[in-house]
Amino acid sequence: MPDHSLQHVAGADVPLLEVDHVVVQFGGVTAVNEATFVAEAGTVTGLIGPNGAGKTTCFNVISGLQKPTRGKVRFRGRNVTGAPVHRRSKRGMGRTFQRLEAFGSLSVRDNVRVAYDIHRGLAGLVKPGAKDIDALLERVGISAYADERADSIPTGTARLLELARCLAGDPKLLLLDEPSSGLDETETDDFGDLLRDLAAEGRGILMVEHDMDLVMGVCDTIHVLDFGSIIASGTPGDIRRDPAVQRAYLGYSDDVPEHELVGARAGVGAGAVEETRTDLVPVGAASDATTVIPAVGATTPEDVR
Ligand SMILES: Nc1ncnc2c1ncn2[C@@H]1O[C@H](COP(=O)(O)OP(=O)(O)O)[C@@H](O)[C@H]1O
Ligand SMILES: [Mg+2]
Repeated sequence: MPDHSLQHVAGADVPLLEVDHVVVQFGGVTAVNEATFVAEAGTVTGLIGPNGAGKTTCFNVISGLQKPTRGKVRFRGRNVTGAPVHRRSKRGMGRTFQRLEAFGSLSVRDNVRVAYDIHRGLAGLVKPGAKDIDALLERVGISAYADERADSIPTGTARLLELARCLAGDPKLLLLDEPSSGLDETETDDFGDLLRDLAAEGRGILMVEHDMDLVMGVCDTIHVLDFGSIIASGTPGDIRRDPAVQRAYLGYSDDVPEHELVGARAGVGAGAVEETRTDLVPVGAASDATTVIPAVGATTPEDVR
């Protein structure tokens, strides 16, 4: 007789999201090259890398907008590689876009209401009332804009509206593509706190983000993409010290010889190096958190949809 309880326990160990040797080719361009990583429930996972590294393409593969040339995506233990977007969404995957997607002529509140209704229509689960929607607006910090038209609100608020619309579907996994762009410093801090709260509720968050203070401050694990390949995975501390990441993405001041970085990685005086390495700065993030990292041999296309 099969032991269902054991199966159930085994199922609980499966990562929320598994990206397994995913390859995406656009003609001669390999946008994603054998990318393999996981995002766990209850954690915030960062996906970082230079422009054109393949981050958005990875998101498109995960959410079902882009079919991979090879490889698999598993979500909550099930292979969803061939599943359409709405099926993934029904299973608990929510996504925000780099480009804003709200209905401009509707109010902020109605935008969230519509997202609720769409979710209810698909899943037949939630029975939201206006109170739930207002609570959600409150939670992401945009209550003051509830009655404004969505096309009249500041970009930062529109980003938070995107998040509220996404949360209306009560996702188990949130895919956030550059969520902090347009947020000021205080909004970004609050946003980081909100992400930690959402993870503490057991949700998994996978975030593409260029603001290194936010990434280093809120992520449990970070994966670094460069030219389509994962070149490093680890904690924020691991990533900060990784010489390959330094070269590909993070900047460091000219007076830091590379052998010191290698020493730090190999554990030679790592503690001391880590504590005094205030000279390490993300490229373009020193003066302005929203500065775009320069492209590395690639253009930045619109999201595939
Ligand atoms: N639909 C597409 N057709 C052709 N090339 C694409 C397409 N989408 C992305 N690319 C290319 O794939 C690479 C990765 O792009 P992208 O995933 O948008 O990177 P990122 O989000 O990290 O900036 C880039 O070289 C880009 O030009
Ligand atoms: Mg992108």
